[in-house]
Amino acid sequence: MIKNIKNICCIGAGYVGGPTMAVIAKNCPEIIVNVVDVNKERINLWNSQCLDDLPIYEPGLDQIIKECRNKNLFFSTNIEENIAIADMIFISVNTPTKTHGVGAGQASDLKWVELCARQVAKYSLGHTIVVEKSTLPVKTAEVIKKILDAAQIDTEDKELKFDVLSNPEFLSEGTAIKDLENPDRVLIGGDNQDAIFSLNKIYSKWVSKNKILHTNIWSSELAKLTSNAFLAQRICSINAISALCEATGADVREVSRAIGSDTRIGSKFLDSGPGFGGSCFKKDILNLVYLSNYFGLNEVANFWEGIVKLNNWHQHRISQLVVKKLFGTVTGKKILILGFAFKANTNDTRESAAINICNDLLEEGAILFIHDPKVEQKQIEKDLEKKESSEMSKKSSQDEKKTNGEWFKVKDIALASKGADAIVVLTEWEEYSKINWEELSKNMRKPSWVFDARSILPQSEIVKNNLNFWRIGDGTEY
Ligand code: NAD
Ligand code: UGA
Repeated sequence: MIKNIKNICCIGAGYVGGPTMAVIAKNCPEIIVNVVDVNKERINLWNSQCLDDLPIYEPGLDQIIKECRNKNLFFSTNIEENIAIADMIFISVNTPTKTHGVGAGQASDLKWVELCARQVAKYSLGHTIVVEKSTLPVKTAEVIKKILDAAQIDTEDKELKFDVLSNPEFLSEGTAIKDLENPDRVLIGGDNQDAIFSLNKIYSKWVSKNKILHTNIWSSELAKLTSNAFLAQRICSINAISALCEATGADVREVSRAIGSDTRIGSKFLDSGPGFGGSCFKKDILNLVYLSNYFGLNEVANFWEGIVKLNNWHQHRISQLVVKKLFGTVTGKKILILGFAFKANTNDTRESAAINICNDLLEEGAILFIHDPKVEQKQIEKDLEKKESSEMSKKSSQDEKKTNGEWFKVKDIALASKGADAIVVLTEWEEYSKINWEELSKNMRKPSWVFDARSILPQSEIVKNNLNFWRIGDGTEY
């Protein structure tokens, strides 16, 4: 029987759950959307009066929250109650790489997904469609189904019934709202036609019919992992070529343009950078590695594992290069880091290349002044596993006797550049492309370096102002 969806519950109010449900609520005003999470602090931030305090920064998200919150979009910790009244439940919880036990370091940790399935099994009433929104290894739907089926057997409620669908999310952070409003495709995997129809009906409110793809549930789960693996592999390929460009005098931007003009290759995702970050690329490839090994496909596993290894090498290559250019030592030297988020337009730092690069430089004894327009000081502290140094220490940051690495979060780039030996751009925030290099050059200690790992700085202006310049994948000596 086709279910008319009046009430949705999304478990997990994170980078996927929050924006995805906001866009559903906006496009389906007749549906009540409840987003629930165990993290009370996160829910409080979703409900904060000041829209600048939302837990996730995404361009355009604040406007939708303003429009829909407390009308048909609600954020709460009332998990039990909202599961019970839901016709459709999205599971949108985190699925990080396992840190211990079987598959540690590769397989996804499904404990949160399993817990969700158990909560759904316990509190659901009547017929409920359960949608996997989290990125999951192939065959996870089977685990969810088994837990839900067991509840059906145990219950006295004759109406209790579950259908499970896979509906992976393809949004990118920083452009989440745009991606959700105008997706390349929406993928729905499953075998129950009525359940598929119900989910299809929701998306068809704003997504054209030809963009909604239907597959079997395993293809849907695998397509999500494969999509991320292909994207990551592409970035890794161009980063590998960037190193070769630097060694040979070629320019990776020119190489990208030349190969990207081939319609079979295409021009997107060919920007060389400090190495891919983000919560998913590494985790999803490692998941693919685990699955391949599990099925005895060791060569397939080795192929994909190579991408993660090369990306890691590439990140460390950048920190080593900074040290080498600064006469082989950065001990006690002041380095201004521009950008800590894993990409622009997000406050997310998960797996950001900045973490490895900053840690390497701290290890070498550098004094880092870190700027990022959206990442908070306490997040950097967590990522670097090192406390920010005191104000007192900041005043003596140019002290040659300092040998232990330390870091400070800064707001004013010009002020922070005073006495700096180097500036390293790690995130492509637009404001960094508008820096006044004449002013910064006057502030810096000579000879000083500018390292542009994102290719966003005006090379001629920097060189004109007597600064040494290095840019990713650029073999020219400036
Ligand atoms: P996240 O860590 O930002 O959010 C997950 C939320 O789930 C957390 O707030 C956590 O408290 C909550 N949670 C965990 N267990 C819970 C439970 N039992 N009950 C209630 N709440 C619970 O994660 P995310 O970035 O939103 O990613 C979620 C999933 O989506 C992952 O599988 C990820 O791979 C996938 N994904 C992420 C992105 C992205 O851009 N971040 C894009 C596509 C897919
Ligand atoms: C990625 C995918 O693009 C999404 O489709 C997917 O839904 C999501 O992962 C997920 O499953 O989590 P996201 O990680 O948010 O999205 O951001 P991307 O734009 O893919 O960037 C990932 C990393 O690659 C960033 O560090 C970015 O700076 C880097 N990148 C991207 C490059 O270095 N060069 C490029 O040309 C593109």
